[in-house]
Amino acid sequence: MELGQRGLGLIAVGLFACVLIMGAQAGTGPFDWMGYDNFDEIDDRMNSVNAENCMSKPASELRLPSETLAQLPRFNQLLSMIIYPNRTKLLHLHNMALNRAFFYSYIYQKLNESEAFQYQPGLMYFYFSAAADVSANEYNINGSAIMFDNNCSYANWYRNLPFNTTLNLFGARAWRFDDYNEPTNWLREPTNTTLNLEDYGAGSQSNYTTKSYKTNQWYDLWLPDGWDKEGLDSVRKHTYDIGIKYSNETGKFATDEFEAKTIFGPPSPGQRETEHLPVVWTEPYYDCGRSNRWIVSAVAPVLDQLPRYLEWFHLRRFRFVAVSVQDIEFLQVDFNPCPLGIGNEPPNYFHATARCKDSTMCEPLDGWGFRRGGYRCVCKPGYRYPPWQQGPFNGIEIESSTLEEYENGFDCVPVELQEEVAVPKQKVVSKHTAHHRQKRQAFDQVKYDRMMAIIEHKESVNKDNCETFKAEELELPGDVAYGVEREFSEQARTALRLAHFLSNFLQNIDLYEEYGNLRGDKLLNIELLFGEALANVMGDLRIKGSGVFYDIDKFKGPDLLTRQFFGPYAYRYEKEDEGGETGDRANTHFRAIDFAGFENHYLDAPWFKNVKERWQSNTYGLIKYTEKPLIRSDLGGTSLKKFELYPLYYRAPSEKDGWWSAPYFDCNGYVNDWIISYSVPFFGQNSIGSAIEFKGIVRVDIRLDELDINQCPMDFHVPNAFKDTARCHFANTYCEALPGKNFYRGGYKCECRQGWEYPFNDRAWYFDGQTMEEEYRKLMDGETSRYETLKCRISGASHAAVSWMAVLLMLLPLWS
Ligand SMILES: *[C@@H]1O[C@H](CO)[C@@H](O)[C@H](O)[C@H]1NC(C)=O
Ligand SMILES: *[C@@H]1O[C@H](CO)[C@@H](O)[C@H](O)[C@H]1NC(C)=O
Ligand SMILES: *[C@@H]1O[C@H](CO)[C@@H](O)[C@H](O)[C@H]1NC(C)=O
Ligand SMILES: *[C@@H]1O[C@H](CO)[C@@H](O)[C@H](O)[C@H]1NC(C)=O
Ligand SMILES: *[C@@H]1O[C@H](CO)[C@@H](O)[C@H](O)[C@H]1NC(C)=O
Ligand SMILES: *[C@@H]1O[C@H](CO)[C@@H](O)[C@H](O)[C@H]1NC(C)=O
Ligand SMILES: *[C@@H]1O[C@H](CO)[C@@H](O)[C@H](O)[C@H]1NC(C)=O
Ligand SMILES: *[C@@H]1O[C@H](CO)[C@@H](O)[C@H](O)[C@H]1NC(C)=O
Repeated sequence: MELGQRGLGLIAVGLFACVLIMGAQAGTGPFDWMGYDNFDEIDDRMNSVNAENCMSKPASELRLPSETLAQLPRFNQLLSMIIYPNRTKLLHLHNMALNRAFFYSYIYQKLNESEAFQYQPGLMYFYFSAAADVSANEYNINGSAIMFDNNCSYANWYRNLPFNTTLNLFGARAWRFDDYNEPTNWLREPTNTTLNLEDYGAGSQSNYTTKSYKTNQWYDLWLPDGWDKEGLDSVRKHTYDIGIKYSNETGKFATDEFEAKTIFGPPSPGQRETEHLPVVWTEPYYDCGRSNRWIVSAVAPVLDQLPRYLEWFHLRRFRFVAVSVQDIEFLQVDFNPCPLGIGNEPPNYFHATARCKDSTMCEPLDGWGFRRGGYRCVCKPGYRYPPWQQGPFNGIEIESSTLEEYENGFDCVPVELQEEVAVPKQKVVSKHTAHHRQKRQAFDQVKYDRMMAIIEHKESVNKDNCETFKAEELELPGDVAYGVEREFSEQARTALRLAHFLSNFLQNIDLYEEYGNLRGDKLLNIELLFGEALANVMGDLRIKGSGVFYDIDKFKGPDLLTRQFFGPYAYRYEKEDEGGETGDRANTHFRAIDFAGFENHYLDAPWFKNVKERWQSNTYGLIKYTEKPLIRSDLGGTSLKKFELYPLYYRAPSEKDGWWSAPYFDCNGYVNDWIISYSVPFFGQNSIGSAIEFKGIVRVDIRLDELDINQCPMDFHVPNAFKDTARCHFANTYCEALPGKNFYRGGYKCECRQGWEYPFNDRAWYFDGQTMEEEYRKLMDGETSRYETLKCRISGASHAAVSWMAVLLMLLPLWS
């Protein structure tokens, strides 16, 4: 009785809290009872800096401690650790930094002969590449740059700069411009489609290599190169083996063999090495005078053999010549406010800033960024929610509660206390609804059998027998790829980035032009495009292959000759070598091939045709981007001036304009695996320059094995081949998919439904899907199985049952 009254009281308090939440701003702690903590400290430090005062602040006030960034993705752990949704943005930033570092390292070493100098990237190549990093990554990349060290940039875009002479400094950066206050922006809301482009090596205070430059930590992380003073060259400069098969004629390859090239690139540590990572991170810093935001950068090195074009080869070294810098807004980075523990290891500046009560456990939520309330409190094992509480307590509600509400709420109830209480009516009702729900979405044997058939078929195909299957047998149904858009969004954006770059370039550089002393960019040549395809694969361990496929008669090189087909496609080499002794062969060996050399052209392949059909006659729906390039006024970089064409515009697709294929087995003798492809179009000027037209597609391939499958019950219309196949006891548990489990059965957990509790005293509070699958199999095979015991019981069941079950559980392994 007493409990009931208290419950009613709390419901009232809860309602009151709801009203408060609606009034209060999300993420603020408005009440005195919440002491000043590390979150407040950082918040205050950030608020004390703004666009007006940042110039006069000392460097220390323009930075935040590195501990404010926990669990940064580290290259050596990427293959062995699950990357949760709260770190996917940072991982993508990491991979894009690597992508650009590989591209420039590759292209400089590939086009190293003096005759090839003019085919190296020109000024706008740098600018447009950085712009594409930003425009194609609306939600995570706000800035992108290549920053050269002193006397390391052999610019090919000045007529009065001899080919063997360098610019002092050169740094091409693009960042998203906050244009809410532009006179033309009458909505007064940032359009997110305007980019500023600037050469950091020009203007006053342009020497970003000096100690007195306040926000250049990205420089110190790799530069200047020590010229092996510390003897670290062998671990800091890694060799990559790249083979290319060219074709200069439709249906024929230039050679039967791959043309090999070894290049030096960023380090590639094995999984056990913790040092010499290829991508390092800056502390958060204030981007003073540019975007005027707090940002974090991922930084990777670019290598070249310097000094170039020198007769005395013994004087030349592979050295770090530049850094690739990719920025994310600090406010977008999730942090874990829960107490330290497994999964939340130190350092974490914001640990224990959540306010979960003792009877609950804190779980971080993703997508909150730097805001309070990004957590929820779930009952500890041995506790359950009070009857009036629907599921976990939300951090945002706790953060907006008064002291009185906090002290009287947000607690779970110990299971033991409920021993004597009869089953309340409300729980009977919930049991009833559970049954009802079970009827609608229970385990489905037909779907289960179909799933097993799909998996069996998938596993029966391999590189040695794939030729013997019919074409349609090398495809899986489209609903097998359920969830790809979400899970591989970052990989899709890697393709999108290249589509943005190509669209920008093909719409703005249609012919070679000179602007006084400044040389315009030459048209794209095949080496640049092979390099871009390779960089997509080299920069992201989840990308198996990536290519650029030009539509028929659309590729025109710097020689102004049109090629019928051009399809440079790069892929990670030799699957069976992945995770070998050194674990890095698949990460250091790459192949690329021009699809023009195949006898069957690619125009009719679904991944090309479907996209082309949508876009070839109608380019409506593309987004228009504006870029504002500032370039140096003279060779020395005395000041900045507007580029002759200012501003520039380009129209480019968004992620949803791309197309995901159904899974298929790539049996052409190169990739030899089940893959899923994402293809996205790019656009250029038509031949008379009157409009833009479809020019081709960029594609990325991901191995099907990387995809998580979701076996939980879903509505009948959800196109998921594996739904309704989870083995949970649905009368008392519900199913939740677990991320990072890949293409294996059992990637889910069965949690107790409202009104039911976990019966075992084994520190868990849910049943693991893999156990459920395995125990069910035993049951079916007539072996001893725990399957029937792996269910929750009605809350408040007798204490004795707990110990009885626990004993049984402990004994079981002995029997079986
Ligand atoms: C270009 O690189 C190759 C190695 O890939 C090297 O043998 C050659 O000497 C280099 N040429 C120049 C001019 O540096
Ligand atoms: C940076 O990106 C975020 C989204 O990730 C956006 O909210 C923010 O306004 C951007 N900053 C600028 C200066 O555009
Ligand atoms: C860069 O080159 C210029 C001209 O050759 C020279 O004066 C300057 O000292 C060099 N700077 C560095 C850091 O080597
Ligand atoms: C550049 O090459 C010219 C000859 O081609 C040579 O006279 C000059 O010394 C070289 N300059 C440098 C910095 O190597
Ligand atoms: C620009 O980005 C911000 C933050 O990500 C978003 O709130 C806003 O709606 C975007 N503007 C447009 C026009 O999409
Ligand atoms: C920039 O600073 C570095 C280090 O102080 C110096 O060596 C270099 O010559 C400077 N570069 C220019 C262009 O002033
Ligand atoms: C293609 O390459 C081969 C071998 O390098 C060469 O003999 C042939 O002339 C080339 N064809 C064209 C059209 O360039
Ligand atoms: C991200 O989520 C995982 C799983 O919930 C958690 O272990 C980890 O601590 C979280 N990391 C951050 C920085 O929030």
